[in-house]
Amino acid sequence: MESIKRVDVKGKKIIVRVDYNVPIEEGKIIDDTRIVGSLKTINYLLANAAKVILLSHFGRVSNEEDKKKYTLEPIAKHLSSLVQVPVYFVPYTRGELLEATINSMNEGEIVLIENTRFEDYPKSLESSCDESLSKYWADLGDIYVLDAFGSAHRCHASTYGISKFIPSYSGLLVDDEIDMLKKAIHQRKTLILGGGKVDDKIGVIDNLINTSDLILLGGAMCFTFLHALGYKVGKSIVSEEKINYAKSLLEEHGSKIILPVDFITQNGIVDLANMTDDDIGYDIGPDTIKKYKELLIDSRLVLWNGPLGMYEDDNYQNGTKKVMEFLYNQSIPTILAGGDISGASKKFGIEFKYISTGGGSTLEYLEGKRFKTLERLNGEK
Ligand code: 3PG
Repeated sequence: MESIKRVDVKGKKIIVRVDYNVPIEEGKIIDDTRIVGSLKTINYLLANAAKVILLSHFGRVSNEEDKKKYTLEPIAKHLSSLVQVPVYFVPYTRGELLEATINSMNEGEIVLIENTRFEDYPKSLESSCDESLSKYWADLGDIYVLDAFGSAHRCHASTYGISKFIPSYSGLLVDDEIDMLKKAIHQRKTLILGGGKVDDKIGVIDNLINTSDLILLGGAMCFTFLHALGYKVGKSIVSEEKINYAKSLLEEHGSKIILPVDFITQNGIVDLANMTDDDIGYDIGPDTIKKYKELLIDSRLVLWNGPLGMYEDDNYQNGTKKVMEFLYNQSIPTILAGGDISGASKKFGIEFKYISTGGGSTLEYLEGKRFKTLERLNGEK
């Protein structure tokens, strides 16, 4: 992977694939982390007199209604408020207007092209990495930059197809994400794993168990492990088909795997030993928070994926919040990986230095999967 920083970009048309797939409610962007994250590359290119052509997907498009819902227009407006130069939004993904706009660009200007997934209806061209669409977009520029870490696990026309045709490089956000996640994978660490079903995390556990000193579990996934140890977990979610996996992991690495000792259920605080048949654990309890803090205090690096409880509900946010505040206040180097845990840090207003902008891509990277999109960013053509 070669970074765009190594290249003379002056006067060049640089196609930058960003990930502006951000949550919008009633026309308002409720989390602009990914847009802000893209500014590093954009500002670098503007400062070096490049012409910046932005491509991004937004949502999934499978009919005409989706095209109204998922236009990038509000995102163009928001981007305009974050940069010092005008952002020209072209409401098409191809055609004369788009070509003319790009051909009349001056150095230091930005064009944002409409949602790449408009090319998924009526035919799935973007998501199937259609060759002629990839070539069309490649012909709009001189150089391609992949800066959409959140979409780097997708081999689509805009994330992968274009790099077949023009010299291609990584953007500054992707460079930073890869540095951060490599560190998270290879260095000794404490791993905090929460979130939904254990099924989603097996790849991460398998890939990281040998470099983790401790794995603190929470969220719904911990109940499969507790059940495997013979505890009653009431109506909390258990992945029946993963009980044997949990058992074998506990047998082999039991001393590393730390489980909650109490929960917040619909009936209040309940010790693990006293869970009734009706209890559902929605958050870790106060004794678990205390125990986790004691275990975390000596960590030199913490990698955290998935919240420890249903943090979206104020009644069940405390476990995630208290542990997060502790890590922040103790200045324990922490990497937050994945959409839910970065959403939690946003909700609590706790700003960590290392927050991955990926959701599925971060998980897949932590699982050790190879990304073909990154492998072709070698500057050659
Ligand atoms: C994400 O939000 O995880 C990325 O933008 C990828 O979106 P997708 O799952 O729709 O490809």
